[in-house]
Parts: sequence; C-alpha cells; structure tokens
Amino acid sequence: EKQGYTHYMLKEIYEQPRAVAAAIEPHVNPEFFSVALKNIGFGQSVQKLEELDSKADWEKTKEVLKNIDRVFIIACGTSNYAGMVGKYLIEQLAKVPVEVDIASEFRYRNPVIPPKSLVMTISQSGETADTLAAIRMAKEMGATTLSICNVRNSTIDREADGHLYMNSGPEIGVASTKAFTSTMAVLNCFAIGFARLRGTMDEATEKELVKSLLAVPSQMEGVLAYDKYFEEAASKLKLFRGFLYMGRGSSFPIAMEGALKLKELAYMHAEGYAAGEMKHGPLALIDERMAIVMVAPTDHLYEKTISNLEEARARGGKVISIGTGDNEKLRAISEHYLAIPKAHWTTNSILTVIPLQLMSYHLACNLGYDVDQPRNLAKSVTVE
Ligand code: F6R
Repeated sequence: EKQGYTHYMLKEIYEQPRAVAAAIEPHVNPEFFSVALKNIGFGQSVQKLEELDSKADWEKTKEVLKNIDRVFIIACGTSNYAGMVGKYLIEQLAKVPVEVDIASEFRYRNPVIPPKSLVMTISQSGETADTLAAIRMAKEMGATTLSICNVRNSTIDREADGHLYMNSGPEIGVASTKAFTSTMAVLNCFAIGFARLRGTMDEATEKELVKSLLAVPSQMEGVLAYDKYFEEAASKLKLFRGFLYMGRGSSFPIAMEGALKLKELAYMHAEGYAAGEMKHGPLALIDERMAIVMVAPTDHLYEKTISNLEEARARGGKVISIGTGDNEKLRAISEHYLAIPKAHWTTNSILTVIPLQLMSYHLACNLGYDVDQPRNLAKSVTVE
C-alpha cells in the first residue's frame, strides 16, 4: 500500500501535486480561468450532494454568501494553520473580517457570533471532538456553517450546512501533509469565489489568481526534489539545540506548521513565531546552536522579513531559509537555502511548506523515530 515508499508520510508528501489538483478541479474552469464553487449544497444532506444541479447550487451558494459579512474559521492543529492562511486570503480578497480560532478555545469562551456570520470548520478526519462541538455550538447560535473535510460523510461533514472537500484521498500518516496543502488550495477557490460575488475582485484578477493556482501542482513537483537534499542534511541539522521558525503574513502560519511538524516527528524543540515578534522576546534564545528557519518568499513583506533575519543572524543563529527563485542574498546569508518557484502571494504557502515537511521527515528518519506513528499521538482525536 505504500507503493514503494518507506513511509505513508513520504508517499503522502509526494501525492501533494495530485491532491492539490483534485482539490481545485471541481471549482475552477480551466478554459475561462474562473471560479464557481461546486456543490456546496447549503441545506442539503451530504448524500444528495453528487446529484445536485451545479449551476443551480452555485446560485444558491451565492445567495447564502451574499448575506455573510463576517467569517470564523475553527479547527485544531495543522487544520488551524490552514485556517490562518485562509484568513489572509479571505480578508485580502473578499474584504470580510475573519477570525481564526482553535476549536477547544472557541467552544469554551462563549464567543460572540453576530448575525450574518459564517462559521467555517476545517477537519481532515471530520471527527475531531472539539471541532465537532464548535460547529454544533455555532449552529445552535444561529450561524451558517460550512465544513472543509477530507473524509466525506464524516460527522462534521454531516453536521455542516455547506460542504467543501479537500479531495486528498486517504491520509494515513499521523502527521498531516497533503490534507494541509489541499485545504489551502480549496481556501484559495473559496476566497476567489467569495470576492467575486462581493464585488471586491475584478475578472482580470480572478483570471490571474486562477492561473497561478492551476500552476501550483507542477510547481510543487519541482520543490519535492528537496527530498534528497534533506536526506543528506539531516545528520547535521539534528545537532541543533532548537529551531525557531519565522515568517510574516501568510508565511506566519507556515512557520507555525513547520515547527509543529518538527516537534511531532523529530521530538525536537521548535517554535513558530511571527517574524515581527522576535525582538519582543525570542531573540534572547538565539545563539549558534539555534537554527533560524525563515519562510521568506518574495511578497510585499519580504524586505521586512529580511531585516528580521539579519537581526537573528547577528546574534549567531544559523539560518535555513526558504525564498523565491535564485535569491542570491538569501543564499549568501543562509547555511541552507531552499528555493520555491515564483508564485503569486496567494499560493506561496502551498509551496513553502513542502521543504519544511521534508526536513521534519528526514530528521525523524535520521533519528530513528516512527514517522507514521509518532509517540503519544493519534490520527483522529475523537475525545477532547
Ligand atoms: C498534525 C496533525 C494534527 C491535526 C489535528 C486536527 O500533523 O495532524 O494537528 O491537524 O489533530 O485534525 P483534523 O484535521 O482531522 O480535525
């Protein structure tokens, strides 16, 4: 079943280009480069979704979304980080305020959910106890709910008013990989569709964004080549005392996700930070035994990210950086520089996370740990 791969996780990392393509496919028209969200089925049962008339359903979805002026995204773990990327996409493109919350916090803090709110949950398994409780609570409070699940007909999927799917295929490795990248792809589609119907995006921009989204699967193929790189680099990287992951904007959740992957797989201490927060504390951690993992694709925050990186380096931190293309500056100041292809800011996150997945995978293998089944963790967290 591992089809020649040593682990499910590695197989699933390699399946990402296909998984992302499958996540996008239902919602984009590759001829006109337009988005029409397919068969969300607001108010329909999950069993009926396949039979819906897609055009009529899209009209219905537009009616529902036209009434939304605030979005809450609720999830746990890696799915929560995908939700954070979604916040940047939806706020920037559709100009609707988005709040992202951890399900276990949301459900117990008596959240204020104003009328016209959309509560979106993200869950690969569709069975996560806290996320399920959160969507039930949101429904009771009168919100419109929309789930993004991988497992169709899972409990959360059935509970939601509207339904989107990651379309990743079964994810077996406990550490989530392809579900994460597929979710970011679905969120791109959602944000574009939502922005168009709210009138915050013109047709030319829609075309540009859909084109860049359609280019992602083949761009991902190239980034997967870092597999070999990290296989070799792992024996050096494991000597670091800790890893500080940083990024700004939509690269901030990628820093969080990178740090989580390293913790859960290699059992090494890692923290994810917004790069701008460094001088508010974490700079004190930095010395030559600390690795700085900087997620710095070329976007409108790049220059600011670089000045944070230089500060960290000046304190002796060793740099592992991810940037766009042949970036000589980053290459010069980094021990390890990993390039992603030039992409629109909306899709950078789908590409920058791949080297981080591969780095954690190879560190864990090098240290002799069970990558598919890390200690103390379960694939589906059905108790709180
Ligand atoms: C990390 C990981 C977990 C899950 C979290 C939510 O690699 O897999 O953090 O993302 O338990 O799971 P789902 O998405 O099934 O609700």
